[in-house]
Amino acid sequence: MNIILLGPPGAGKGTQAKILVDGRGMVQLSTGDMLRAAKSSGTDMGNKVAAVMEAGQLVTDEIVIGLIAEKLDGEASGGFIFDGFPRTLAQADALGALLVSKGASLDHVIEMQVDDQALVDRITSRSTCGSCGEGYNDISKPIPANGICSKCNGSDFQRRSDDNEDSLKNRLMAYYKETSPLIGYYYAKEVLTSVDGLADIDEVESSISSALG
Ligand code: AP5
Ligand code: MG
Repeated sequence: MNIILLGPPGAGKGTQAKILVDGRGMVQLSTGDMLRAAKSSGTDMGNKVAAVMEAGQLVTDEIVIGLIAEKLDGEASGGFIFDGFPRTLAQADALGALLVSKGASLDHVIEMQVDDQALVDRITSRSTCGSCGEGYNDISKPIPANGICSKCNGSDFQRRSDDNEDSLKNRLMAYYKETSPLIGYYYAKEVLTSVDGLADIDEVESSISSALG
């Protein structure tokens, strides 16, 4: 089963993708994570996209489609979770064509609905374990009081450099201008389910689980 998690910055795409990876053996393909990895390893492409990401704007379709095309050659017996991809209609068309070329299908698109103020609150309180990538949040999932990651015992917690007010405004604008048309696109393809992303993490998990069957 191949699915897309669709939603604005801070909707909980990464959080729910990790739950699906652990629970269903799916493979998470997050273009944001791939681009950040390229940035921190200093590849040509990483250096090229750094300023665009910092500003909260979209990286070119060509780059992200290339990243996804490479990953689709890998094994994923539980299926792929597309997290943060596609983000434009051109990316959506490209993903459709790539899946057809592999004899695969797109089974579900889960739209995670969250209001804008909640997004701002979540993003400004988010941190991640620098060792294993486990996500934390000052409000909903604080770092344990002993300062040790509950998943890997790491103690280096990081905040994303694009999690600031100016970048966030641009990220939200990019979502409404470029990405939100995908809601109608996938509705028309009869694969869309919308879930309340404002609910607690485990309630969102169970809504997604019901949608996936
Ligand atoms: P990307 O990394 O995809 O960022 P994003 O879309 O802005 O989304 P986030 O990762 O910030 O949020 P999320 O939905 O994963 O939420 P999370 O689970 O962390 O992209 C970054 C940049 O890369 C883009 O701006 C762009 O420049 C570039 N890029 C990436 N893909 C691209 C593409 N396809 N095309 C072009 N450019 C691209 O949750 C947020 C916080 O809330 C966490 O702290 C979490 O613990 C908490 N939380 C989660 N769920 C809940 C809940 N139910 N209740 C309470 N708190 C919750
Ligand atoms: Mg994410």
